[in-house]
This record gives sequence, structure tokens and C-alpha cells, in this order.
Amino acid sequence: MSDTSLIRFEAVAPLRAQVAAWRAAGERVVLVPTMGALHAGHLALVARARELGRRTVASIFVNPTQFGPTEDFSRYPRDTETDLALLAEAGADAAYLPDVATMYPPGFSTRVEVDEVSQGLCGAFRPGHFSGVATVVTKLLNQVQPDIALFGEKDYQQLLVIRRAVRDLDLPVEIQGVPTLREADGLALSSRNRYLSPEERRAAPRLHAVLASIARGLAAGAEAGLLLAEGRAELEAAGFGPVQYLEVRDAETLAPVERADRPVRILAAAYLGRTRLIDNLAAVTP
Ligand code: PAF
Repeated sequence: MSDTSLIRFEAVAPLRAQVAAWRAAGERVVLVPTMGALHAGHLALVARARELGRRTVASIFVNPTQFGPTEDFSRYPRDTETDLALLAEAGADAAYLPDVATMYPPGFSTRVEVDEVSQGLCGAFRPGHFSGVATVVTKLLNQVQPDIALFGEKDYQQLLVIRRAVRDLDLPVEIQGVPTLREADGLALSSRNRYLSPEERRAAPRLHAVLASIARGLAAGAEAGLLLAEGRAELEAAGFGPVQYLEVRDAETLAPVERADRPVRILAAAYLGRTRLIDNLAAVTP
């Protein structure tokens, strides 16, 4: 039976009071931050939260500061009532739906900038994006005050940026990554998949297939450079373009690597028509 008693909060004070009451009763609180447009990947985060703690808060806020001027902020899918029904069905205890004035009151002038892991990859193509993410997530963590916060590994660089901000700022919360959920054909679940035309949707799983093939090559001891050149050509032949990046990086620092002689991650971002897809995969050390 699904529990449909989702408590809805728009203001910080009553949400904090509820979280404090749960914690005073010895219950752990898990935050699942989202921008809505929920899909099975988000619901897997809620399911994981329920495994970890008795109380789950999901936030829904389409954060304007993490979108660039030419990005899809205004057309980003928004359907709050469907999202709330899905959260209730998945067994979340509370939804936090702040408005822009709550997150960015007039005169707001503080940004959280995370160096190193924010640079390169998506950071090179989306200037200001990770600062927007780090700022809003720091605020959400301070507002909700959870014991644990969950983030999908699909946004791998984002996960590392958030881990670094939490560590550097001594925020009292544990950050956990949750593995990417995929369609049967390998396409990583994403709110942006709904932008794909039927033809693009058929081509989209090539992104994961190319990452998996590079992972196999690295596991067999091949050099990253050749595998990446082949992978890029394969993506372009499948209709992707521009391929913004296809790279093998150290799984913790995101520094470039030549061989999988330590835990590495293969990461890619590429356009399919107007839709920008990202994905990543761990490579097994030979
Ligand atoms: O991954 C997302 O949906 C967003 O970047 C996040 C973490 C909710 C911050 O706005």
C-alpha cells in the first residue's frame, strides 16, 4: 500500500520544525533534492532514502542560477501536481517547494564557488552552472538540515562538487551517491529525455554503448586516447553533435588519466538535435 500522506512545505520555519521533531524522536531524515519532472531515477532516490531512514524529504525547485542564458530554464518541464503524486506514491514523507523569493530573496549576494572539480567537463561548457548548484544545494541543506542527502551518479561531476562543498564548509550532512537508473536499452533516465524525437530516442542509447565499450577497452589495458577517438567518431556517426566532451578522468579528483590504473570514470556530454545528454560510467581496473 502506498502512503499518500505527503506533507507539503513552502516555508523554511515549519519544515525545520518538522525535521527537528523527527530528529528529536530519534528518526533520521534524508533529503532528496530535485528540480521536479520526476522519473523513475528520482523515485529510486526516494526508495533508497526510505531504506536509509524513516523520514524522507524531497525538494522541488527549478533553480534559475544553474541555467545559462541560452539554456532550457524557461522550457524545463514543470508539473508539480504529478510530481507530488509520484512522491506520495513512492512513500516520501514531505515535499519542500520553495519559491524563488525564498531561495533568492531581494539583495541575495552570496555564491558558493567550488574550484578544481567544477572545472572542465560540464564546467567548461556551462559557466556558472556548478556555482549555481553548489549555492542552491548549500541553502537546501541548511534549510532542511537532513542527516543524509542523496544525489544521482548520473550527474557525476555535480556529485563531486557537492561532496567537496560539504567537506570544505563542514556542513553536518552525509552525501551519498546513488547509481544511475537506465532504460532497458541503456539510456540513462533524465528529465531531458522527453525532449527527444522518436528518431533521436532510437539513437540516444549509443551514448551509453560507447561509454561501455571504452570501459571494456580500458579494462583490457588499452590507452584512453585511442578509445576516446574511436568513441567520439562512433557518436558522431550515430548523429550526435557537437560532442562536447568524452573523457576518462580520475574518479575522485576528475584529473585526466591515460590508463585505468586507479578508479576512473568515463564521462560524456553530447547534443542529439537540441537536447544535451550527459552520461558516465565507472571503468574497472585491469
Ligand atoms: O540534479 C538536480 O536536479 C539539481 O542540480 C539539484 C541537485 C536539485 C540542484 O538544483
